[in-house]
Parts: sequence; structure tokens; C-alpha cells
Amino acid sequence: MIEIRIVLGDITVLDCDCIVNAANPTLLGGGGVDGAIHQAAGRGLLEECRTLGGCRTGEAKLTKGYALKAKYVIHTVGPIYGRTTRDEELLRDCYVHSLDLAKSKGIRSIAFPAISTGVYGYPAEKAVKTAVAAVRDWSERNGEYAVTVIFCCFDRKTYRLYRAECGVGQE
Ligand code: APR
Repeated sequence: MIEIRIVLGDITVLDCDCIVNAANPTLLGGGGVDGAIHQAAGRGLLEECRTLGGCRTGEAKLTKGYALKAKYVIHTVGPIYGRTTRDEELLRDCYVHSLDLAKSKGIRSIAFPAISTGVYGYPAEKAVKTAVAAVRDWSERNGEYAVTVIFCCFDRKTYRLYRAECGVGQE
């Protein structure tokens, strides 16, 4: 059974089991939410990421959370919009593989940023639909696993898109 929450704010301060990082294939940090998570987690995160051997687009890898409130960080790499004909499939994979990994670790609350909608240029309108559909489909296939999925939005536009997509009344 899955509970979906939509919040507006900085993912690095969320007190949940796991936060998801929108990383790049090197896993060695960057700007955007990647930069913010590395900044907040501290050096230990980069040192552990160095041992992971990178991450392919659509895949997910787990590390500890270090100085973050979250116990874990799941790093996933979204598609760079328009680069392939598989954008939607690869974006779905980010959510599905992150949730599979979270379930394997017994994680019961996981926060996602709007993967690929920043530097990677994925239109938020499309990305939000794909994200919500991916999480709902995963929930159908894993109905017995209780988990809270938090969509953490960094701007009001994305927040409104998630609330509309999840049928939550506009404030
Ligand atoms: N908390 C929550 N969301 C955030 C935060 C934050 N602190 N900072 C940024 N975001 C949001 C952005 O506003 C956007 O909606 O995360 C979403 C994803 O944007 P990016 O961080 O730019 O990630 P992405 O588009 O997936 O591009 C990944 O950017 O930072 C580099 O190393 C990263 O190369 C990779 C690329």
C-alpha cells in the first residue's frame, strides 16, 4: 500500500528514510539537487560514490546519508531530454528502480526530486505525468509493501503540476 505526499521545499532537510538524488553517470556530484545533496551530506557521500563505479541512465544505486537526516540516498540518473527516443521509458526506470532498491532495503519513506526537469531539460508537465504513473504502476505490482512516496518540489510550478496530477485540490 502506497501513500503519496507532495511537498514544496528543499529535499536535503526532509526527515525521511531515503532521499533520491538526480545525479549524472559519474556519480561525482554536480549542480542542482545533486550539488545540494552532496553539500548537505558532507564529504563521506562523495567518498562512497567514488566506490560505486558510476550509474547508467535509468539505473539506481544506494549510499548512506551521512550528515543528512535521511539514512540513505538513492542516486539515479535521469535522461537528458531529447537525446533518445526512450526518454519516457528511461525516466520511468529511474522511479521504478529506485523503488525496487528502496523495497529491498526495507525503506518505508522515500522522497523524489523532479528528476530530469532541471539541467536535463525534461519538460516538467511531461515528467510529472511519467513520475506519478511510474509510482502508481509500481504500487500496483507491489501492493503488499507499505511505503510513503514524497514528491519534493523545489518550485511552485512543479508543486502545482504534481497536485493536479494526483488529483489534490489547488490551494
Ligand atoms: N531540493 C529539491 N529539489 C531540488 C533542489 C533541492 N535542494 N535543487 C534543485 N531541485 C530540483 C530542480 O528545481 C528540478 O526541479 O530538482 C529538479 C531536478 O533538477 P536538477 O537538479 O538540475 O537535475 P536534472 O535535471 O536531473 O539534471 C541532472 O544536473 O546537477 C546536475 O549532476 C547533475 O548532471 C546532473 C544533472
